[in-house]
Amino acid sequence: MRRFSAWVDLFLVLALFNEAPWAVRSSSHCQQTSSGVIRPHSVTITEFGAVSDGRTLNTKAFQNAIFYLNSFTNNGGAQLFVPAGRWLTGSFELISHLTLLLDKDAVILGSTNSADWPVVDPLPSYGRGRELPGGRHRSLIYGCNLTDVIITGDNGTIDGQGSVWWNWFKSETLDFTRPHLVELMNSTGVVISNLTFLNSPFWTIHPVYCRQVIVQNVTIIAPLNSPNTDGIDPDSSDDVCIEDCYISTGDDLIAIKSGWDEYGISYARPSSNIVIHRLVGETQSSSGIALGSEMSGGISEVRAENLQFFNSKIGIRIKTSPGRGGYVRNIYISDVTLTDVNIAIRFTGEYGEHPDEFYNPNAFPEIEKITIKDVTGKHIKVAGLLEGIKGDDFFNICLSNITLSVTSDLLWNCSYVQGYSELVCPETCEPLKKSIFPEHQSDCYHLSNHLHSLANQNRGA
Ligand SMILES: *[C@@H]1O[C@H](CO)[C@@H](O)[C@H](O)[C@H]1NC(C)=O
Ligand SMILES: *[C@@H]1O[C@H](CO)[C@@H](O)[C@H](O)[C@H]1NC(C)=O
Ligand SMILES: *[C@@H]1O[C@H](CO)[C@@H](O)[C@H](O)[C@H]1NC(C)=O
Ligand SMILES: *[C@@H]1O[C@H](CO)[C@@H](O)[C@H](O)[C@H]1NC(C)=O
Ligand SMILES: *[C@@H]1O[C@H](CO)[C@@H](O)[C@H](O)[C@H]1NC(C)=O
Ligand SMILES: *[C@@H]1O[C@H](CO)[C@@H](O)[C@H](O)[C@H]1NC(C)=O
Ligand SMILES: *[C@@H]1O[C@H](CO)[C@@H](O)[C@H](O)[C@H]1NC(C)=O
Repeated sequence: MRRFSAWVDLFLVLALFNEAPWAVRSSSHCQQTSSGVIRPHSVTITEFGAVSDGRTLNTKAFQNAIFYLNSFTNNGGAQLFVPAGRWLTGSFELISHLTLLLDKDAVILGSTNSADWPVVDPLPSYGRGRELPGGRHRSLIYGCNLTDVIITGDNGTIDGQGSVWWNWFKSETLDFTRPHLVELMNSTGVVISNLTFLNSPFWTIHPVYCRQVIVQNVTIIAPLNSPNTDGIDPDSSDDVCIEDCYISTGDDLIAIKSGWDEYGISYARPSSNIVIHRLVGETQSSSGIALGSEMSGGISEVRAENLQFFNSKIGIRIKTSPGRGGYVRNIYISDVTLTDVNIAIRFTGEYGEHPDEFYNPNAFPEIEKITIKDVTGKHIKVAGLLEGIKGDDFFNICLSNITLSVTSDLLWNCSYVQGYSELVCPETCEPLKKSIFPEHQSDCYHLSNHLHSLANQNRGA
């Protein structure tokens, strides 16, 4: 019997890794597609006249260097090296088969003049800029239609100097939606690693319509009160692996998205196969991991494990709304440690925020098969605030092995959700009280037999 269950476990493990196409190598869960690549040709930004005084604008130098390197893309690609120093620049565009390599003491600084961040078309899956109608400022580091791009360094720094943008946002003097710090669009084979990102004007790292993206060993920091400075937002992208990151910002640390209302529904590009491992961070106004609120193209097959959030408003969050359509399904979040977090788990079914009046209020999202397990929390104010949508219950919500020390009287408050639970303390709300084992295990996404036997032992004890 023991032997049999070991085989079942092995089978489950294999099934999991089969689903996500990442090779298992040492302790990394990301398949190293292109890091370690040696580019046969390399130049240094100073060869193109760049000046590292932190005041001279170097946009032209970056553009010229990359234009020059364009002739090497078909010969193994090329590397642009940024040495120690403070390099001020406006937005510039990457090319395929390029490594942008920063020295450990290199700091790329974003220009504080909005004219250095050109305005580009809105994303088709959003129909308009996220905060204002019309176009949006292009990110500081931008790439579209690329393959095999590496942005890396020995913990060098990319600083968006976003405070000017946050002030324009607060004083409502922006003409267009704020830019991201790094955006890769419609690209395959992207590695962003070993860097520190500071003070993004808006979301920090935004892969959109991409596949095979790795974000590894990065530090992302912005003031806790800076507006919408999300850490990493995989958007309508698949095969994304995020590992060993420390993020402390003014909005969601990682938010998985896939387009907005009627635009996202018609663009129909989901986010799937998203793997997150070893994420540590804090966010005083938002969540550690969020799904949505833009999820109209669908979000599925997400595995997030080994997460530590502290000093934060929310641990795990799903945000959606009637009008979004789409789905969030097959989500597995496990091994979570929360410390000083207001709400451990929050679902918001009526998030609102529509791009315009043309959304379809009857486009209901489908939220199902959400497994959250192995969570411990200290100094939690509210265990769970789980609000689905009237007439559109979130279902097969499975909570397992969750132990929270809650400081307020409000433990769980649930509406329009259905599901199952096992070993949850404090005891969960009525709609989730039915136990997972034995008969509802298959309604839950990816619960292994291992827990089943432990739960049985517990009952027996
Ligand atoms: C990306 O490719 C599409 C289709 O070929 C093209 O229309 C678009 O202009 C390209 N975008 C950029 C920024 O090169
Ligand atoms: C993370 O980055 C630092 C500095 O960039 C480096 O020393 C360290 O080896 C990296 N760790 C991993 C796991 O890549
Ligand atoms: C990289 O630099 C940041 C900011 O200086 C620091 O907080 C972080 O610990 C460093 N990361 C590594 C892996 O050395
Ligand atoms: C993405 O690239 C494909 C071709 O590779 C192109 O047909 C499509 O228009 C591009 N989409 C965008 C948004 O650039
Ligand atoms: C990060 O840096 C470490 C130490 O230099 C290196 O071993 C590793 O390959 C780098 N990771 C990536 C993904 O570039
Ligand atoms: C419950 O979760 C904790 C981590 O929060 C873990 O150490 C423990 O092994 C889990 N228990 C069971 C029965 O799986
Ligand atoms: C529980 O949530 C509902 C909305 O979903 C709210 O109306 C109600 O006041 C909450 N109950 C408590 C005790 O906070």
